[in-house]
Formats: sequence, C-alpha cells, structure tokens
Amino acid sequence: MQKAQDGRVLIFDTTLRDGEQSPGATMSHREKLEIAEMLDEMGVDIIEAGFPIASEGDFAAVKAIAEQTRSATICGLSRANFKDIDRAWEAVKPARSPRIHTFIGTSPLHRAIPNLTMDEMAQRIHDTVTHARNLTDNVQWSPMDATRTEWDFLRRTVEIAIKAGATTINIPDTVGYTAPVESADLIRRLIAEVEGAEDVIFATHCHNDLGMATANSLAAVEGGARQVECTINGLGERAGNTALEEIVMALKVRHDILPYDTGVDSRKIMAISRRVATVSGFPVQFNKAIVGKNAFAHESGIHQDGMLKNAETFEIMRPEDVGLSGTSLPMGKHSGRAALRAKLKELGFDVADNQLNDIFVRFKDLADRKKEVFDEDIEALVRAQGAAE
Ligand code: KIV
Ligand code: ZN
Repeated sequence: MQKAQDGRVLIFDTTLRDGEQSPGATMSHREKLEIAEMLDEMGVDIIEAGFPIASEGDFAAVKAIAEQTRSATICGLSRANFKDIDRAWEAVKPARSPRIHTFIGTSPLHRAIPNLTMDEMAQRIHDTVTHARNLTDNVQWSPMDATRTEWDFLRRTVEIAIKAGATTINIPDTVGYTAPVESADLIRRLIAEVEGAEDVIFATHCHNDLGMATANSLAAVEGGARQVECTINGLGERAGNTALEEIVMALKVRHDILPYDTGVDSRKIMAISRRVATVSGFPVQFNKAIVGKNAFAHESGIHQDGMLKNAETFEIMRPEDVGLSGTSLPMGKHSGRAALRAKLKELGFDVADNQLNDIFVRFKDLADRKKEVFDEDIEALVRAQGAAE
C-alpha cells in the first residue's frame, strides 16, 4: 500500500480520466501516452489513466500507460460491480504499481438512481471492495457526492470499505458544493470517528463549480487528507477539478502555513500545461493562476517600475519555478517611462532623455489606439524619431 510520509501530500492526477470527461476534451491514444509520460517525469505519485470499462479505446490507453510508466502508480476507475472492477484490473495489472479505484454514489440523490436501500448499498460496498482487494493490495474507494451524504451513512460506508480492504478513502466533492471550513471538518471528523481510519490515506477530490476547488482541497489537507486529486489546468467535468499547478505552487509558496511537500518538480508545470491545452483543445484563460498568459505579466506603469527595481514587489513566486524563462512586461497604454526605457535598452537603443520623452509621447498615442504595442512598433517609433531629427 502507498503510504504518505510525514509532511508529504501525494499528488493524484486525473487529467486522463476526470479531465478527459470535459465535453469535447477527448485525447488520442498517442496523446494520452505522452501526457502520462510527462506526469510521471514531473513526479506525480498516482496517475488515474482512465475508466477501462468505458470503451475499448480507454482500456487500451490505460493498459499501455500501465506498461510504459516507470515510477507513478497507475490507477483505473470502476463502478461498484465485479465486471467493471475486473476490467480495470486487466488494464492496470501490467503496471509496476497498479491501483483499482472503485466508487458508488452515496448521497440520497445518487442512491435513488440504482434504487438501493442503505443496507443494500452497504452490502454492495462490502462485496465490491472485497473483490477488488482480492485482486490487489492497492484499492481506492470513493463515496461519490460524499459532501451531500448524511454523516451517519457516510461514516458507516467508509468503515465498511476500510474493513473490506480499501487502502485509500477518497472523499469527493462531486458537484463543487462544499466550502473550505466544511471540507477541513469533514476529513478531520472522519479521521477521528471512523474505525480503522489510521490504517488508510484520506484523499480529497474537489470540483470547481463555485470556484472553491483549490481552497477546499487545501482545507482538506489541513483536516488530515494526504492525497489531493487534481488535473492539469483544472480540466474536468463542468467547471473542472482542482488544478494541479495551484496545489503544487500553493504548498510551495505558503509552506509557512501549509507545511507539506509534494514530489512534483514545479519547473515542469508550464510545459505540461501547454501540451494539455493543445491536445485537449481547451485553451488556458489568460488570467488563470500559475499557467495563464498573464500570470507573470505586468502592464501598469507602477507595477512595471516596481518589477524593474525588485521583482518581489509584484510577484510572489519566481517564473522560473513554474518553467518560464522570466517575467513579461507587455507594453501598453498603462506602461510608464521606466518600462519604455528598459524596453528600448533590450532592443539595443540607447536614447538620451529628451529623445525618450519624444518617443514616450508617440508611444502613448499609439498605445491609446492599440491593445498591445509590440517590439516592432517600438522599433518603428525610434526610427521615425531618428528620421525626424
Ligand atoms: O467527482 C467524483 O465524484 C468522481 C468520482 C468518480 C471519484 O470523479
Ligand atoms: Zn470528479
């Protein structure tokens, strides 16, 4: 069984399963293998490679990822029935470290779908987790919609899953309904009150319907969760899942109050973010935390001036730590003289103060008409200035 060491949070990436469930985000077999390799190389602990019963293609991709992966545990998802579990096991079995992940919806709304009584569901959980545990000693169990499940029933089902042999208990906030204070309390209470809780790892799996997935995941870690489930760029059903890059960087930048490490090399974040955006066809929004085009860009005069003097004035992390070569100071109507002077120097122009003033006036005039002023525009302004003299 995979155990988290003290102070370590396991990163479980589900870009290839929950991420691929984003409508329209389907990836090809070759692309999935490529993403899995990048995840493995960056130090992700567990890769949920797919849902093997879902299609022949999903099965083949999970199996191929299991065969190629060198370090990470490879996990396959299955519903709570023997056929799904056997199919998942067939796919992940070649992995150096395979895991079966089985789930069932435990909230009243989800119980109504298979029309099971609480006792029937409890029995189903016992039988399916036992079946999975007879195949492997690495079994993850999830009560889907856990955050809208009655406390007594949630506790009862988690206890049954642990007794039947689950080694990781994942608590999904399937519809992004919970709030940080509840997320922490729920994990804390499960750890305190469930019999056998000390023998398993608790995981958190949050969706972003209210924009709280990262906050809820970090709160769950404070409550005692030691596995965070996430996706690259926050890809996933509806508004997506917790973004891997946000968890990794939050734990790095705020280690003072969140003293937990991951095994992820954060310098590989930008490369995989761009690749996932391309293969999924889901571009990253410009102002997305960590990986958005503007996450390390500063346009206003005050900010650019500050950045030129000391990068810490407006940046809480180094762009190099997420795999960028540096900060960007795009030139626009909010830029000031200091940034223009720096830009001219970068372009190889050494101008006197009076020339700078003239160029600055014409630069502002142009910037008022254009969203962004490019290097070529500035070069043209300097040349026009030279011709006018
Ligand atoms: O959001 C969810 O509940 C899930 C489960 C299958 C774990 O993705
Ligand atoms: Zn999910």
